[in-house]
Amino acid sequence: MEVNIADLTWDQFIYPRGGKSEKTVNAYVEALAIGAQFPPIKIQRVFNYAEGDQTTDLPAGRHGATIILDGIHRWFAFKESGIKKIPVVEWKDKPLDYEKNKVVLLLEGAECNISHGDRLSPGDKKRIAREIATSDPECKWTESALAEKLGVIQQTVNTWISDIRARQKAGRNTVILRLNRLGWTQEKISETVGINQQRISQITNNTNFSEIGNLLSQGHDMDYIARHYHMDLALVWALRLEGKTDQEKFKELGWGLRTWDQWYFNECDERFGDDWPGRIPAQLVAHTLFFFTKPGDIVLDPMAGGGVVSDVCMLFERKCQSFDIATRDNRPEIQYHHWDSQDNDWPITRKADLIFFDPPYYIKKEKAYREKATEETPSISSYSKESYEKFIESFLILAHKNTKETTRMVFLNADWRDFESTPASKENPDNSITIFDYHRVLSKTGWKLTHRIECPLSSERLSGHQVQKMQDKRILGTVGRTLLIAKRS
Ligand SMILES: C[S@@+](CC[C@H](N)C(=O)[O-])C[C@H]1O[C@@H](n2cnc3c(N)ncnc32)[C@H](O)[C@@H]1O
Repeated sequence: MEVNIADLTWDQFIYPRGGKSEKTVNAYVEALAIGAQFPPIKIQRVFNYAEGDQTTDLPAGRHGATIILDGIHRWFAFKESGIKKIPVVEWKDKPLDYEKNKVVLLLEGAECNISHGDRLSPGDKKRIAREIATSDPECKWTESALAEKLGVIQQTVNTWISDIRARQKAGRNTVILRLNRLGWTQEKISETVGINQQRISQITNNTNFSEIGNLLSQGHDMDYIARHYHMDLALVWALRLEGKTDQEKFKELGWGLRTWDQWYFNECDERFGDDWPGRIPAQLVAHTLFFFTKPGDIVLDPMAGGGVVSDVCMLFERKCQSFDIATRDNRPEIQYHHWDSQDNDWPITRKADLIFFDPPYYIKKEKAYREKATEETPSISSYSKESYEKFIESFLILAHKNTKETTRMVFLNADWRDFESTPASKENPDNSITIFDYHRVLSKTGWKLTHRIECPLSSERLSGHQVQKMQDKRILGTVGRTLLIAKRS
């Protein structure tokens, strides 16, 4: 069959620009001039090809293409010789989904090149092996299959891709170990990670981290060890502290253990939780777990944000279920859930021993949370005062229905007053929501208050300039933040 030369696409994933040899093209041009015949170029029609490495021959926005699998030098030689129609053979007679078949197409191209023409250099083969390994995190392509396709021995492929495979395995193992420590079932981990349950149980039972102690005694720090295992710092700390008592853990983490009801921590401990609007200190969560739970208990974090609660649960060997409207790859434990006062959906089957409820403090940080939400599933920080209060009430009712007699409700919030540009004496109480309102709602929804713990924010966050402005206008800000702890009554 023949096609217009201009209809073919040079796909640089399949054949990179660096691999093209001018010398070969020139030799082919000369051969064509004296009447040489070349075998047909091997092509494949593809779709789902919106943004490939196409040449200008493909009109912008066209989603289909005919890509060259083998014969890039012949194609250039035909073009330079002014030939418009050229002989081609199709690999598969139906168009293929490019995105789904990228790797298969790459290997077919490579295989053709092994047997003839300008053979692929070892550098090209290495590039192809690494491209495939990178785009195949589930390791479906074994080293031996790649070796066969690329015409090299397996040992060579091993040396080319062993670092990629090691990283992928460690990354995946990290997710598995994290979810396992937080109490996820093997079945659920298997669904999330995409590998079978038997393999998951091998990873969770047989991974040996005794080397952490050796590395520490050799003078390496925890950052080094986390990099060494390709793990996040929180997981490495959890492994290091495993089996110790809660008090020993506080000590090793360098946290003083307060036995009074003022929990002031100057700043967040950067080791745990992500940088997140409204992030809370890990020490605050640790104190809550110390006083109100025991190892093995189940904690629910319905609005998980930066994930500090799950990190601390991992450290203190509590199980944890986390939800938020904002989910992301580095936090596999945070599942998507949009809490809505209109529906009574409760996504958890096992009853929690403690609920760590840290919602947005009314409209504080509204802009930051809006950026993480969508219009259909808004953050409660964009609600009116009335809807916000209604939401808190309905969540507490729903939680009451879905928990057990011994469940603790831990509710973190702050007074919200419209002090921003209003002198203290002019503030309108109708615009504010205070801890007393939350206390009232807790009681009304069946939760009996047992403790009120003050966890103030640092006043150092206010700049000298801000303080001066507030002094001038007699504005009274708020750095208070209160943890209300309640039992089911
Ligand atoms: C105060 S932040 C939690 C901060 C977290 N404890 C930390 O230390 O990083 C409140 C979280 O509630 C989430 N959120 C707001 N409205 C929500 C809703 N209707 N359903 C689920 N999550 C919601 C926001 O995305 C935000 O991450």
